[in-house]
Amino acid sequence: MPLPEGKDFLTDTPLAFAGAGTEFGAVDAEEAWIAVIRKMDETYAELVRQQVELEEKNAALEEAQGFIAGLLGSMTDVLVACDLSGRVEQVNLAAERAFGQRADALLGRPLAELLDAASPTGAADVLSTVARRQRIADREFALATPDGPLAVSVNGALRFDPRGRAVGIVLVGRPIGELRAAYHELAQAHEHLKRTQQQLVHAEKMASLGRLVAGVAHELNNPISFVYGNAHALKRYAERLIAYLDAVHAGADPASLAKVRGELRVDRALADIPATLAGMLEGAERVRDIVADLRRFSSDRREAREVFDMASVVRSAVDWVAKSQMPDLSIHVSVPEGLEVVGHPGHIHQVMMNLVQNAVDAMEGRPDRRLEITGARVAAPGGGQKGGQVVVRVRDTGPGIPEEIIGRVFDPFFTTKPVGKGTGLGLSICYRIAEEHEGRLEAANHPDGGAVVALVLPESRP
Ligand SMILES: Nc1ncnc2c1ncn2[C@@H]1O[C@H](COP(=O)(O)OP(=O)(O)O)[C@@H](O)[C@H]1O
Ligand SMILES: [Mg+2]
Repeated sequence: MPLPEGKDFLTDTPLAFAGAGTEFGAVDAEEAWIAVIRKMDETYAELVRQQVELEEKNAALEEAQGFIAGLLGSMTDVLVACDLSGRVEQVNLAAERAFGQRADALLGRPLAELLDAASPTGAADVLSTVARRQRIADREFALATPDGPLAVSVNGALRFDPRGRAVGIVLVGRPIGELRAAYHELAQAHEHLKRTQQQLVHAEKMASLGRLVAGVAHELNNPISFVYGNAHALKRYAERLIAYLDAVHAGADPASLAKVRGELRVDRALADIPATLAGMLEGAERVRDIVADLRRFSSDRREAREVFDMASVVRSAVDWVAKSQMPDLSIHVSVPEGLEVVGHPGHIHQVMMNLVQNAVDAMEGRPDRRLEITGARVAAPGGGQKGGQVVVRVRDTGPGIPEEIIGRVFDPFFTTKPVGKGTGLGLSICYRIAEEHEGRLEAANHPDGGAVVALVLPESRP
């Protein structure tokens, strides 16, 4: 740029040149030079500062570039960036490897040349998709590689400059083989999980079957030993009566017959026989009832919906679960007869057995063990035409359910019990059964301690 005439380009002040008629003293000249030199110093310092700043910016830029290059280099997906006409502007290491060519051999080439002729998505497709401002999402491409077509799943979008103008297209492709392998692994993991869950469901079934068998065996034990004891007594009576009858048939005289009768305690035997027989009958009936309950509650016939009384279901569940496992447990059942519901008595029995089992588990090792089961009829919420509900509450004197888990106890596989003791399926199965009966299951804690689990079912209406 030409300097403005008659001005000091550094200070902008008019210069006084030595000329005709002007006296330019030595002192003035020196001052002017000093000013010029100072100005030059300042300018130089400014230049140095700008240089340093530039170098710093340059270093930051190089670092950023290195970072981006590192990112691109470590990507395992193939990255190709093109301009808006589809000419390659940038590729990453994975792309160089896939195409078997160095980056500089790829740059500037049209995208179409990098794709196999039979590619399901073509370069024209890409350009028209981005021209409509749409993204390319999971589209399949076949890349032209030295080893033949390579199938990749591609995602892509427009690239914008800092002012927001579209300047190019970025495409990222992942070999479908890798995806398939990942899917395969996922499917295998899923299979494994399903198998484990099935095993747990099976374990839960076996455990409840085991409890059922143990409980029923325990229940049968009583009447059977009763029958057995009475049968032995009857056998002894029969032996004595036969011995007496033998004496009668042998024609013994009345005096010796009376003696034998006394020795054999025949009168006592005769008096005892009706009670002994009645006891045997009672025991046999009890066995018959237990077997009938077992049939009723363990059958799994889906269609077997019937009207049944909650009292008998509750009683048998308590008998089978609690008595055999915790003989010293104090049990209080107050479920009036006549609380009738419709459904599958076997399934509701299973719910009651599970609730009693949880209560027994919770009270294990605790000093004060009390199981309280109450049943009642209540009006349905909203009342009116809807009919009543039957509520059965199972309360224990265990530690209660901690607040932080109370929302999760119905989740399948949620358990706080050690492996082998709990599967976490009990309450989730009960919940499902309650829902199938158009009822519900609720877990809470009693203000005086212990858990209360309530089963609510619609009351059966004639
Ligand atoms: N009566 C109860 N008292 C305290 N906690 C209980 C009670 N019933 C259930 N729970 C809690 O709920 C969890 C889930 O119960 P459940 O589904 O029956 O599975 P599981 O008995 O196999 O653990 C239990 O592990 C326990 O933490
Ligand atoms: Mg349980």
